[in-house]
Amino acid sequence: METKLRMVVTAGPTREHLDPVRFLSNPSTGRMGFAVARAAAEAGYEVVLVAGPVGLKTPKGVVRVDVVSAREMFAAVEAAKADILVATAAVADWRPKSCAKKKLKKGEMSGVLELVRNPDILKSSKVRRKIGFAAETGEAVAEAVRKCKEKNLEFCVANDVTAPGAGFGVATNRVVFVYPDGTAKRLPLLSKLAVARRIVAALQRGRSRK
Ligand code: PMT
Repeated sequence: METKLRMVVTAGPTREHLDPVRFLSNPSTGRMGFAVARAAAEAGYEVVLVAGPVGLKTPKGVVRVDVVSAREMFAAVEAAKADILVATAAVADWRPKSCAKKKLKKGEMSGVLELVRNPDILKSSKVRRKIGFAAETGEAVAEAVRKCKEKNLEFCVANDVTAPGAGFGVATNRVVFVYPDGTAKRLPLLSKLAVARRIVAALQRGRSRK
């Protein structure tokens, strides 16, 4: 019997706490990543979905690992030992330098928040085949080419998160598949599940796309 390829998908936001009740985060709902996990499972991949704090139902046939912070997400991606990584998560690039064990009182806060860098999960991962996303506010292609090269990606799915019907929270997305050589394939406005199915199809075509 043929062994299934294992795909790890990151989804949703991360939260970077400064105390038990306060954190830095972003508006990602996980819809894009959950759609990728569903499409990949339907296409026959063994899927591990590493999800930040979101309120979505796990797609059928998918193993889900819930995490909160970027460092937890990184550890879960490493532990999955996957053949393919599809990184849809909106990972916080920075975290507070320290996290208080108890809720900080107003008087204990100075008004200045000291931050340190989080790991770049996609860049650091040694997974053989990596597909990233680029969330931009405006023209996204040039930035996606840069990310392809910097993070050693097979391709990058660029979305302008300020475009109508695209980006955070909504059921649809308008994306461009961008390759390291600068070629770009623009897709029309589609449901996130349809975008996810296109990503899985592009993966299956692999490097033979030309
Ligand atoms: O979850 P939804 O509400 O459906 O919204 C979907 C989405 C807008 C979150 C999604 O379509 C999207 O654009 N995801 C990527 C968000 C992002 O953080 O992009 P970026 O350009 O900052 O990061 C580039 C890539 O590196 C991404 O694949 C990201 O997952 C990855 N990354 C970034 C920083 C970091 N520390 N670790 C990472 O792995």
